[in-house]
Amino acid sequence: MSGDADRRENGADNEEQIITPWEVSGKDGGKIDYDKLIDQFGCQKLDSSLVDRVEKLTGVPAHPFLRRGVFFAHREFDKILEAYEKGEKFYLYTGRGPSSEALHLGHLVPFMFTKYLQDVFQVPLVIQLTDDEKCMWKNLTVEESQRLARENAKDIIACGFDITKTFIFSDFNYVGGAFYQNMVRIAKCVTLNQVRGIFGFVGEDHIGKVSFPPVQAAPSFPTSFPHIFGKRKDTRCLIPCAIDQDPYFRMTRDVAPRLGYHKPALIESLFFPALQGESGKMSASDPNSAIYVTDSAKDIKNKIMKYAFSGGRDTVENHRKYGANLEVDVPVKYLSFFLENDAELANIKQEYGAGRMLTGEVKKRLIDVLSSMVERHRKARAAVTEEMVDAFMAIRPLNILG
Ligand code: TYM
Ligand code: TRP
Repeated sequence: MSGDADRRENGADNEEQIITPWEVSGKDGGKIDYDKLIDQFGCQKLDSSLVDRVEKLTGVPAHPFLRRGVFFAHREFDKILEAYEKGEKFYLYTGRGPSSEALHLGHLVPFMFTKYLQDVFQVPLVIQLTDDEKCMWKNLTVEESQRLARENAKDIIACGFDITKTFIFSDFNYVGGAFYQNMVRIAKCVTLNQVRGIFGFVGEDHIGKVSFPPVQAAPSFPTSFPHIFGKRKDTRCLIPCAIDQDPYFRMTRDVAPRLGYHKPALIESLFFPALQGESGKMSASDPNSAIYVTDSAKDIKNKIMKYAFSGGRDTVENHRKYGANLEVDVPVKYLSFFLENDAELANIKQEYGAGRMLTGEVKKRLIDVLSSMVERHRKARAAVTEEMVDAFMAIRPLNILG
């Protein structure tokens, strides 16, 4: 395979960090080296000049995730902006693999950010629920994966997407017709050796896994949604996701020109870390690593007090003397994702880093921030009815003019 995919790196060697759609771990249990990842994957760093350009173009301050480098890498995001500057609209594509009853805070990162992008650019959005993927990887039954997809759709809708511009679909329900035709076109362009290289598949893997990547690739092409885009092939696609999903889209970008489509552009985030620290991502497969949007205020408090890895020193004396190690401190990392006030965040880093603030105080502030965010989400989710889920998932034209 040429181009993007040539530069792939998967974690065959255990000494190295492992970043695949299914596994995230830093080298030797250490932190994830994101600069190295940009290099290995062959994507570009998202620098402040692009952030400035977004602000100019949209006329509103950039989302904190952009300002603070949470979305730190991209592929051809500049091309999307360039086209938009010329009056050409694009569409957004993101997704979720329904492996658990509820989303965790890490999952909210791409969805909150996608909501911001939809609001400021006023573009259509497709959201794929890969119930088929989780059925094949997680040993869930078809029926259970479908049920989880629908439950997860409620959490996604609660993020506030515009129903006139958003189509949510589950693979088990939607794949067929024009979508399936694109899957087959894509599949014919990729060899078994290539998917082995990109995803690390081995001979013992069942063939469902090998056949899945075209399912996640197909929504990158507008003709997979004739009810939205008609027969247009030239509408550009922008995919917000965490960087673990990059392998799918390296493959997609490779085949796109051969099928007469633009390569999908990507805007990629860091991982919201596990409670235990930055060598792993918050993962639904490890309940102790994660805070779920369904956790109570009490759960949140207990998890943070008990598990959130602290960069504070072993004794108060040492802490006052040396200050907290902010590099490894999970509460500070979490606040830098979700504490909206820039000045307060800077102040906490300064005071805690200098040892004037103690871990307990930082954790307390974090518990407040997360509890109120989760409470807001809980209310929004409780207001999502079965009818609304049906309406978001209905095959229908969207408002693509706005
Ligand atoms: P899934 O369900 O593993 O994750 C859903 C989305 O959340 C991102 N994510 C995270 N972001 C920040 N911190 C974390 N700890 C964290 N964990 C997960 C993922 O990158 C993803 O954006 N195969 C996909 C579903 C999918 C998809 C897509 C995702 C289908 N098409 C297009 C993004 C774009 C999956 O299982 O995601
Ligand atoms: N008026 C839109 C445009 O600028 C119509 C359109 C067609 C569109 N395809 C689109 C808008 C895809 C957003 C995304 O071309």
